[in-house]
Amino acid sequence: MKTSIAIYPGSFDPVTNGHLDLIERGEKMFDLLIVAVLQNVEKKPLFSVSERVDMLREVTKQWKDVEVDVFDGLLVDYARKRGAGVILRGIRAVSDYEYELQMALMNRKLEGRLETVFMLPGLTYSYLSSKLVREIAQLGAPLTGLVPPIVEERLKAKVS
Ligand code: PNS
Repeated sequence: MKTSIAIYPGSFDPVTNGHLDLIERGEKMFDLLIVAVLQNVEKKPLFSVSERVDMLREVTKQWKDVEVDVFDGLLVDYARKRGAGVILRGIRAVSDYEYELQMALMNRKLEGRLETVFMLPGLTYSYLSSKLVREIAQLGAPLTGLVPPIVEERLKAKVS
């Protein structure tokens, strides 16, 4: 059953197969799923925001109800602006829970009408993170099965 507009926010530096698994699940639940890339001036990302958006658009183009966008500032302000009622986040393991709980409760304090919905990615991806992907790419390990082929290519080009 589709009910609303949801935002799936994150850094996506870069998008992994774990993110894609969650996007595929979220796309089935909501009228519109907005994958929102945080423009964070403090972090030093491997890929620029436009590179990340580019890759996300490419790997989500098969879903017509998925949009890729960029946001800065508070997530709750962006959600209000986009008319979204749900924030979608993935929880891979118990270790994610504490950080996610803090963020969800803070967002609820800032905007009580916004609900955070947690989904579990497929078990195959429970150990996968952008940070580990960046690290093993920089050390020359194979990336097959961890990221979509286009991301693998861009990662190889970036670190070579
Ligand atoms: O993929 P990440 O880096 O874990 O995503 C974190 C993100 C982008 C969801 C979070 O940092 C965020 O929402 N930042 C926007 C600023 C904000 O609203 N901060 C208060 C959240 S409690």
